[in-house]
Amino acid sequence: MNGGGYFGRYGGCYVPEVLIPALEQMAQGFEEIKSDPVFLEEFYTTLREINGRPTAFTPLPRISEKLGGARLFMKNEGLNHTGAHKINHCIGQALLAKRLGKKRIIAETGAGQHGYASAAVCARLGLDCTVYMGRKDYERQRPNVYWMELLGAKVVAVDDGSQTLNDAVIAAFKDWVANPESFYLLGSAVGPHPFPAMNTFFQKIVGEEIREQCLTETGKLPDYCLACVGGGSNAMGIFYDFLDEQSVQLIGVEAGGRGMQPGEHASKVQRGVEGIFEGYHSYFLQDGTGNIAGTHSVSAGLDYCGVSPILAYLADEKRIQFESASDEEALAAVQMVAREEGFILALESAHAFAHAFKLAPQCSPDEVIVINASGRGEKDLFITMRHFQEESLLTYAQYLLK
Ligand SMILES: Cc1ncc(COP(=O)(O)O)c(C=O)c1O
Repeated sequence: MNGGGYFGRYGGCYVPEVLIPALEQMAQGFEEIKSDPVFLEEFYTTLREINGRPTAFTPLPRISEKLGGARLFMKNEGLNHTGAHKINHCIGQALLAKRLGKKRIIAETGAGQHGYASAAVCARLGLDCTVYMGRKDYERQRPNVYWMELLGAKVVAVDDGSQTLNDAVIAAFKDWVANPESFYLLGSAVGPHPFPAMNTFFQKIVGEEIREQCLTETGKLPDYCLACVGGGSNAMGIFYDFLDEQSVQLIGVEAGGRGMQPGEHASKVQRGVEGIFEGYHSYFLQDGTGNIAGTHSVSAGLDYCGVSPILAYLADEKRIQFESASDEEALAAVQMVAREEGFILALESAHAFAHAFKLAPQCSPDEVIVINASGRGEKDLFITMRHFQEESLLTYAQYLLK
């Protein structure tokens, strides 16, 4: 990182004047806690007590045999409390908020996993929590809305724009501008400095655990690490510890959606244009006039127009390769992992698996592919059920309406 939160020319802190003191206080707090043994002890203890870390490093023997080629493993972040990796950075940020004397948390959410994790951590730490969610996500990820409300959070459905994550982020920033004494607990490695570096710091435990687990299990480091890419927090979590290991190939998998026409996907590194939006400089999906373009993905968590400035920099440096998987490929991966290995993946994570399934047969049997299973798929019940068993969904809906 250069000074001021820049990664090459990406990153930075482009926000209204009113937020500068809050972000400076946060950045200062982050600098202090990074090397504060008391904070770090509390962070790692909480990860152990709430999430049961380390999460499992699980071989996928039946799929490996079926595909031929490399041995496949998954890092099961779906085993975290609330069902995804998001809670790692929620715990870190909420502990920092407490240390800074904050009483109120603002968060945005797409798939609902970041909101659900924020609500849970805020309930545990006695913090007031307001979560913004695009109306489309509010409807399609309804189970998570219910959990957030049960945990005492206020969930605000956002009716602006495409009613997805981007609109939720904008609404959360508006709240922060009106209430700069609140703490914005941001859900990915995006946004103004210090969020990209801070969330990467809180997520890097994923790769650190994999290093040890993979050595124990296979006697070597992974040959490939794969992660899906929404904003980039689970990807930075798995990649960070291996950035200096040139033998480990790092692959980020973006949402290919329904095709590569504008508005039909969310592949911002591969199809985006440089710009400054939501407080940071990175790649964004834009229409020809410099406005933000529509996005689409079957997975709410990847349905976002921007990407971490750290990933943008590492893509330019050619340290991380970027690929896409379509909605159909992700759904097929959910089914394959369920049938062959007994795990229900989050639709987001399934994008990384879909690409791994194309890669594995091209590898030799001594090669090891590790995929970040960033979340579990119960939240996607009504989406995957509509796809795989529409009749059952309709019968269930009729039963509920009786
Ligand atoms: C399970 C899961 N994986 C991945 C993502 C994408 O976010 P990120 O790219 O920040 O990991 C989300 C976002 O909601 C998610 O819920």
